[in-house]
Amino acid sequence: GPLEEVSLPLYFGWFLLSSIQDKIKCTSMDFLKTLDTLEAFKKHLIDFSGKAEEVDLEQYFQPTGILHCTTKFCNYGKAEGAKEYAEKQAVKDFYGSIFDLSLSALFVTPRTFGARVSLTEEQLQLWPADADAEKQAESVPAAASLPLGSRAHVTLGCAENVEPVQTGVDLLEILTLQQEGQQGEQVEEMELGTLTYYGTGKWLLNLREPISAPACFSSFYG
Ligand code: A2P
Repeated sequence: GPLEEVSLPLYFGWFLLSSIQDKIKCTSMDFLKTLDTLEAFKKHLIDFSGKAEEVDLEQYFQPTGILHCTTKFCNYGKAEGAKEYAEKQAVKDFYGSIFDLSLSALFVTPRTFGARVSLTEEQLQLWPADADAEKQAESVPAAASLPLGSRAHVTLGCAENVEPVQTGVDLLEILTLQQEGQQGEQVEEMELGTLTYYGTGKWLLNLREPISAPACFSSFYG
């Protein structure tokens, strides 16, 4: 009946606990501030503004609300595979549990700013298997051969008029380039890690020390 349909959320995911949200916001803003000032970044400014003019990355990316890593976008049951996902045993068993997410990289494109999440085997039980593979194949065809869970990320900000769903697509594009053997251009050893440029405005900072982020597996109704 209609009640069952509305009982499915907008999405399931891991919601970062508030203590770590603040830390990540600070770290990520510091990163944007530094990136802004690098000569290598300035050289490729045209990717961001269409002009060789300076951009203030902290202004460029709008925050997108509570920091989380989406596992399954259900769209209140309208998304394909939503019901099946909600009925998975692992989803029921782990609902409300706290996990330690490992944030292993930060990435910036002209559209989105995000953190890559490296999932453990246990966490992968909460990742949708088939639907995700299809979704990946649709948005980034070459990403179909990436390991399950490659899309896992936390959206940290979006450029004007860009939807957060783009962050996962941008991450898959970078990982696809890596898988195809594109080394990228290692531009800088930063305090946080190694910064690599993958062309057309794609920047990835591999964190020397992954950020461990406690997060609650739950859902968002909006
Ligand atoms: P993300 O997980 O990259 O942050 P919205 O507010 O646009 O409805 O999105 C709610 C959340 O669901 C966001 O976190 C968003 O992106 C994610 N999301 C939206 N649409 C999709 C989709 N088609 N596939 C996967 N995730 C989505």
